[in-house]
Amino acid sequence: MSTQPVRGTRDLLGDDYAKYSYLNRVALDVLPTYGYQGIETPLFEYTSLFQRGLGETSDVVGKEMYTFADRGSDSLTLRPEGTASVARAIISAGLTQTLPQKLFYSGPMFRYERPQKGRYRQFYQLGIEYIGLAHPLADVECIALADHLLKAWGISDYQLHLNTLGDLESRQNYRQALVDYFSCYKNDLSADSQNRLEKNPLRILDSKDTNDQLLCQEAPLFDGYLNETSRHFFDQVQNGLTTLGIHFVRDQKLVRGLDYYCHTAFEFKTTSLGAQDAILAGGRYDGLMQQLGGPAIPAVGWACGLDRLALMLNDFTVPDRLKVALIASEEGLEPVSLKLAQQLRHADIACEVFLKGDLSKRLKAADKGACQVAVLLRPEEYQANQIKIRYLQQDFSPVGDKETIVSLSDLVPNLLSLKKA
Ligand code: HAM
Repeated sequence: MSTQPVRGTRDLLGDDYAKYSYLNRVALDVLPTYGYQGIETPLFEYTSLFQRGLGETSDVVGKEMYTFADRGSDSLTLRPEGTASVARAIISAGLTQTLPQKLFYSGPMFRYERPQKGRYRQFYQLGIEYIGLAHPLADVECIALADHLLKAWGISDYQLHLNTLGDLESRQNYRQALVDYFSCYKNDLSADSQNRLEKNPLRILDSKDTNDQLLCQEAPLFDGYLNETSRHFFDQVQNGLTTLGIHFVRDQKLVRGLDYYCHTAFEFKTTSLGAQDAILAGGRYDGLMQQLGGPAIPAVGWACGLDRLALMLNDFTVPDRLKVALIASEEGLEPVSLKLAQQLRHADIACEVFLKGDLSKRLKAADKGACQVAVLLRPEEYQANQIKIRYLQQDFSPVGDKETIVSLSDLVPNLLSLKKA
């Protein structure tokens, strides 16, 4: 039996775990200011949800899903993303009657991709879905929230790439133009792109193959095929972003890897992570609900890769929080040390009770366990309703003493007042 985790998966420990908690904590503060409420959907769904929702021609459905038959022979899939599940949940909970809905989620997703820095088979997304509003300013608000959150996380190395995929009519016209163009070079295209030419020619624009990229340089641009409605929608999105002072670059080659998008498509990209440069991505998906058998409901949203954001938190340190060691000098006082510890914890003071070994060993363990202060319970003070505080880290001592004696009733306020000098 191997003790290694499965390829593309990792254990999150120590500082790594703290980074994910930090990202979620900050998001939980910011998201309600935009009116978002949380949703948890199951980690696995019927396979057909993703097949219908994300599109048979997407890479995710075509080659990346973790699909299995359960013991009842149902075909199930570990969720590769959150949007289809949220759309399904809205329909099954009957929330289509109470729109708009603003929902966020955070948790693991699963895709069978080739693992590398910033790309994993179990990875973590935090995402939002704004469901029920067709207005272009809903797209702007979603993007503004993304920009706000990235800044609140202390992340600054990113650029917003923006494009439009137009409405169905515009997309069909553009699709035909691409088929006409690329068909002339069919034999020069990579095998993947030859396949895309039949199924989803827009995805050729996203090809990583250098020869495909050369051919793409001369390919027709979407702008020439946008109808009036689509152009007007996109103008309003761009104007809204400009009004809010959110800088973007127009990227006509940005097509997104999932099939449900229309109109606005965007990706926040960084230069600090190498090949896996998309840290947050999304767009409008007005057709998804209907595709899943629900009513026609417009929606827009995004998801960010927490693993990639965690890699960008270079200067991250766990905030210095006072941690107190409780040590009783005699076995008879150990229950009292436990009781005191409960009092401290109820006062929001982190503490650890050290129960084993002689005093000096326990003080050493407390020091190693990152306690800055030890509270020593000894019969001589305890009988007089007093207690000894020893400063294990001198910069926590208010006047530079090594230790001090306080009355039991002053212990909590005294500890609460301690700060690093
Ligand atoms: P996506 O572009 O497939 O979109 O993924 C969003 C983000 O998840 C990516 O930009 C990246 O940061 C992260 N990500 C994706 N795959 C991996 C991986 N294998 N390892 C690490 N991070 C990864 C969606 O998933 C859409 N559901 C977003 C959306 C929500 N659109 C509308 N609403």
